[in-house]
Amino acid sequence: MRIAVGSDHAGYELKTELARQLADAGHDVVDFGTQSADVPVDYPVYGRAVAEFVVGGDADYGVCVCGTGIGISIAANKVTGARAALAYDVTTASLARRHNDANVLCLGGRTTGLAQATDAMATFLSTAFEGGRHQRRIDEITRSETGRASEAADRPDAVGRSVLQGSHRDDQGDHRDDQGDHRDDQGERQAPTR
Ligand code: RB5
Repeated sequence: MRIAVGSDHAGYELKTELARQLADAGHDVVDFGTQSADVPVDYPVYGRAVAEFVVGGDADYGVCVCGTGIGISIAANKVTGARAALAYDVTTASLARRHNDANVLCLGGRTTGLAQATDAMATFLSTAFEGGRHQRRIDEITRSETGRASEAADRPDAVGRSVLQGSHRDDQGDHRDDQGDHRDDQGERQAPTR
């Protein structure tokens, strides 16, 4: 497979070790940097570069690393078509593929040890998407990206909204009930979200 990798300075060491493992296993590795742990850089640049490469069809998967994996996953997910998953063990890496059809694996260089990251990456790359009901959910994500109407709106699991009034308002003397505008009394309360 061809794998794109990228990290900021906080993810440099883990990214470099994972890239070496990938190459040793016979994969083609495209490294978008950064190339030092000593020079602070901004993770969105690397997350976007990896995600664009994967979504463009130039790599099978991406592996991104920052300090926590959080920032770089947020950045990668801004690329339309990217499904970047922050994983921290074999279970989350497996589910990211089986249920979410993730195409970019994100890891935390400061939060996930090398052994766990190694196992998570190996699992991610060897686990297939299960499709079925999960495909419907991926399709819904894709519709969100393209601004097309949701097809979930008419289903029983469609989103509802529930409003709970904070009881601390009593202490502040401004409880909604006292003001005669409690939402429940006006019949605006909706079914709780499932
Ligand atoms: C860099 O200090 C750190 O903020 C970054 O690597 C990452 O953890 C952000 O999500």
